Amino acid sequence: MRGIDFFFNPKVVAVVGASRRPGKVGYELLRNLREYFKGRLYAVNPEAKEILGVPCYPSLSDVPDDVDVAVVVVPAEKVVDVAEEAGRKGVKGLIVISSGFKEVGPEGAERERRLIEVVRKYGMRLIGPNCVGVYVPKSGMNTLFLSRERQGYPGHGFIAFASQSGAFGSAVLDWAAMRGIGISKFISYGNKADVDEVDVLKYLVEDVDTRVITLYIEGVERGREFLDTLMEVTKYKPVVVLKSGRTEAGARAASSHTGSLAGSDAVYDAAFKQCGVIRAYSMEELFDFATALGMQPPAAGDRVAVLTVGGGSGVMATDALVDLGLKVPRLSDDTVAKLRRVLLPFASPYNPVDVTGSAVDEHLVEAIEIILKSGEVDAVMWLPYYMVPGITPELNRKFLSRVRKVFQEIGRIVPIVGVATGGSYTAIYAREAESMGIPMYISPERAAKAIKALVDYGRWLKRSGTFDYYIEKYFRV
Ligand code: COA
Repeated sequence: MRGIDFFFNPKVVAVVGASRRPGKVGYELLRNLREYFKGRLYAVNPEAKEILGVPCYPSLSDVPDDVDVAVVVVPAEKVVDVAEEAGRKGVKGLIVISSGFKEVGPEGAERERRLIEVVRKYGMRLIGPNCVGVYVPKSGMNTLFLSRERQGYPGHGFIAFASQSGAFGSAVLDWAAMRGIGISKFISYGNKADVDEVDVLKYLVEDVDTRVITLYIEGVERGREFLDTLMEVTKYKPVVVLKSGRTEAGARAASSHTGSLAGSDAVYDAAFKQCGVIRAYSMEELFDFATALGMQPPAAGDRVAVLTVGGGSGVMATDALVDLGLKVPRLSDDTVAKLRRVLLPFASPYNPVDVTGSAVDEHLVEAIEIILKSGEVDAVMWLPYYMVPGITPELNRKFLSRVRKVFQEIGRIVPIVGVATGGSYTAIYAREAESMGIPMYISPERAAKAIKALVDYGRWLKRSGTFDYYIEKYFRV
């Protein structure tokens, strides 16, 4: 069977059902492609010669070019005919946005069966139906029908996001754009009549632009293959999964949404654990974990140091870490003595290391060096409190340049995750720290879960025998 790379990097795209009317799905979709797509673009609509300046033809067979991808936005009852025509023309694949298939009952299911029959007959591939398709910042392939005025589109980054739900997927993209999180590939596959999470995982594990794979799923049909694929993929790239339909009522909702069988949550949970999947329970967790896993190496163990400017946050951080089964060990007498020499007399050097509200940049910078060099922890939670008077706008730069120097000296990278609780002033510096490579979270609890993801993934890689390979490939000093 044909691979699926052409969906993400097509040379020629045709929109079948491109509309002349602003506000309609087929109009907004064409407008996005016209603005983003770097290849050749055609519209298909029997009523128009051009739409939005894009050349328009009455049918696919009239398009005077070899079309890689036909994006289909005609009503469901016309889709099978369009697919037939695409097949005859030698189109490689279809992205069917239209709803009205398996998700609406037996008649729709029959239509979907005929659609897939045509797709197979011509050796095409199919994304959808009932989906929003793909968004790839690098190639400009963007089949979403949400206008730029209403929907943010993130820039290029290391996270791939595959979603069974188009609306949720799009909303997450919008949020990611606002939060400054980059995306390598986004794919919404809807009813997944052909391309499903197994195909997507196999593709993304080989994709050089993707470092972390995130999935939103409601249910999987090819269960065994899905788990076998996950088992292989997670040895090389982290996979974070948000699985809904956990409750009986939620499972019922999933079945009428995309026609998926959500299955027993306990079975999924056990299977995910066996396959090294990091499970998220909310949108925030999905991306909290993905940013940590993309920016930081997995932890080699479960001992965590908490380095804080605020005492209370240090306590909360410790509770949160311990609740998750991680260790916050008291540092050795030797390390405590070294910390005492550089910190204020009323600072606390045991772990949490609390430099106090009288701290200046250098206290954090000296403390992190001592902590990292101690070899007594496998990860650090850093709570800088940018609003404190002695902390300067130079803190991130000074802290990170010292951290890098220490990594060179010790010959390895220890994961560091930050917490910046606060408002708009704090947010500026949190964003800056993140742009320098440290994932920053609004609360110690969220940061603790991100660290747990790094610990769990590290453990999984060690079990799989790929820890050293992974570190060497992505996190060599
Ligand atoms: N080939 C090419 N164009 C055709 C065509 C054909 N065979 N038949 C009709 N068209 C044209 C129409 O003339 C129209 O263009 P116009 O607006 O310039 O007249 C355009 O294609 C769209 O057809 P129309 O009948 O107006 O459909 P629509 O825009 O009302 O609805 C869908 C089409 C696909 C958007 C709609 O059926 C649908 O499924 N909506 C739900 C989408 C969705 O939510 N997807 C899942 C997201 S998660």
